[in-house]
Amino acid sequence: MKASNDLLTDKFGRTVKSLRISLTNRCNLDCIYCHSEGDEGSRNEMTVGMISDIVTTAAKFGVNRVKFSGGEPLVRKDFEDILRSLPELKDVSVTTNGVLLKERAHSLKEAGLDRVNVSLDTLDPEKYAFITHGKPEMLNDVLEGINAAIDAGLTPVKINMVLLKGINENEIDDMIELVRSRKGDLVLQIIQVMDFRDGAQYDLNAEQIEKELEKRADEVTMRKMHHRKKYIIDGAEVEFVRPVENKEFCANCNRLRITADGKLKPCLLVNDNLIDISNAKTEDLPELLRASIDRRVPFYRDYKDITIIKDKTKTGEQ
Ligand code: 5AD
Repeated sequence: MKASNDLLTDKFGRTVKSLRISLTNRCNLDCIYCHSEGDEGSRNEMTVGMISDIVTTAAKFGVNRVKFSGGEPLVRKDFEDILRSLPELKDVSVTTNGVLLKERAHSLKEAGLDRVNVSLDTLDPEKYAFITHGKPEMLNDVLEGINAAIDAGLTPVKINMVLLKGINENEIDDMIELVRSRKGDLVLQIIQVMDFRDGAQYDLNAEQIEKELEKRADEVTMRKMHHRKKYIIDGAEVEFVRPVENKEFCANCNRLRITADGKLKPCLLVNDNLIDISNAKTEDLPELLRASIDRRVPFYRDYKDITIIKDKTKTGEQ
């Protein structure tokens, strides 16, 4: 058995520190660009015990962050039970569309959730309905959900805004204003649309938009995760996520995904390398995790950088 600190290090020198666990493929919305976490759409869902087992095993080998996603994770009524079953971790979060957040925020916090990301692309009810195929009134539920999350201390609440050409590119300033109005409690995360469903149709020059924001920023810092930059604009905290064709993003990827039906998934964009752990025995999980780590390949590669990372691990210098 490998030492605990390198069981989760892949051959490109990238150590998995974080699990992104899909709890369900069910969703109460149906967004025009949704990547569904790259899942084929199985109706099977892992039990509380299975989730607890895999997180506990991964935590023994150094994973200290878990993000839950979906579908819409809050459609699972046993989400609080899942949270209560987890070992001690540095950061437990969820990405939700926020529609059901108002009534769950406090119980999720009590069950051990640290913070939430809320998907919100627009502040216009009609556009909201167009993007999500939900009702325009649901936008208000999301906004109330965000307030409830702040109230419950699930902070900082990150607003995930996927940039969509011709739909919400003119709303960046309104979003910055929203975040500024709840300074310290809200962070805006602007995300480049990836080519899923109708995504390509709404693609725009995200690099250009990021450059313009950078010019306006009073302060720019670098986040370790994916080497993302963080901007302070008029007192609002703004992050930019630009994964498409981004070698740096992949070179710094430290997460392993788990599908709703219990398959280890090394990359959002690759579907032929999954490892089924839904029927695995607890004692076999380390080996299966290792096998999945061995299948991790940066989707967008830069061979030169990767060679450097490899050399570093060889000399033991990290
Ligand atoms: N491109 C970029 N981000 C996406 N998300 C879902 N689909 C896409 C896509 N095609 C992200 C959104 C949402 C989270 C669940 O996944 O940010 O908030």
